[in-house]
Amino acid sequence: MTGGQDHDPRSLPPASCFPRLVTAAGPSRTRALGADLARTLPDGMAVLLHGPLGAGKTCLVQGFCEGLGLADEVISPTFTLVNRYGGRPAVNHLDFYRIEPDDDLADIGVEDIVDELDRGASVLLVEWPNLLRPWLPVRVELLGLPGDQDTTRRWYVRGEPELPAAVAALFPELNPSCSS
Ligand SMILES: Nc1ncnc2c1ncn2[C@@H]1O[C@H](COP(=O)(O)OP(=O)(O)OP(=O)(O)O)[C@@H](O)[C@H]1O
Ligand SMILES: [Mg+2]
Repeated sequence: MTGGQDHDPRSLPPASCFPRLVTAAGPSRTRALGADLARTLPDGMAVLLHGPLGAGKTCLVQGFCEGLGLADEVISPTFTLVNRYGGRPAVNHLDFYRIEPDDDLADIGVEDIVDELDRGASVLLVEWPNLLRPWLPVRVELLGLPGDQDTTRRWYVRGEPELPAAVAALFPELNPSCSS
């Protein structure tokens, strides 16, 4: 991804930057992927969710919270920017679609959220995450794109500094267009 794209909150990385993928036929499959991710995500790793409007990012977070056994209703934080769901660990669910590049992320409490993540006291999932990437050196990034049918999504994955093997196993297909 170029630096320019990093500063545009609403740009999407190309699928060719993601080495693996899985196809989810229907929202229940995306939710199941989220639940599986919740069970395999190592402590301290953030989940960055790329994808166009309606890709299923919030749907995946709903499954993630189900996987953690959280009873709270998961709704999109498009307007609130941050939703927090109780539990151990707590879940911070961010949506930065409406953030502008010169907004002060400290005002939104990003430092506290990142500290808590580093302590293993919470997990973090971010929709439209470009502006937060510099804050999150240890991360799994997903890119959701429409598939062949209306209700099919392709979920691509990559990890920094590396993709944990247990997470990679949830994405069995190799991406033939990936250059790295
Ligand atoms: N395979 C699928 N996986 C996920 N969602 C799907 C799938 N097929 C259809 N859908 C539908 O697509 C919509 C996804 O909505 P969702 O709010 O999760 O998208 P989003 O990526 O969070 O969008 P936004 O960027 O606006 O927040 C839902 O209405 C869901 O039912
Ligand atoms: Mg959403």
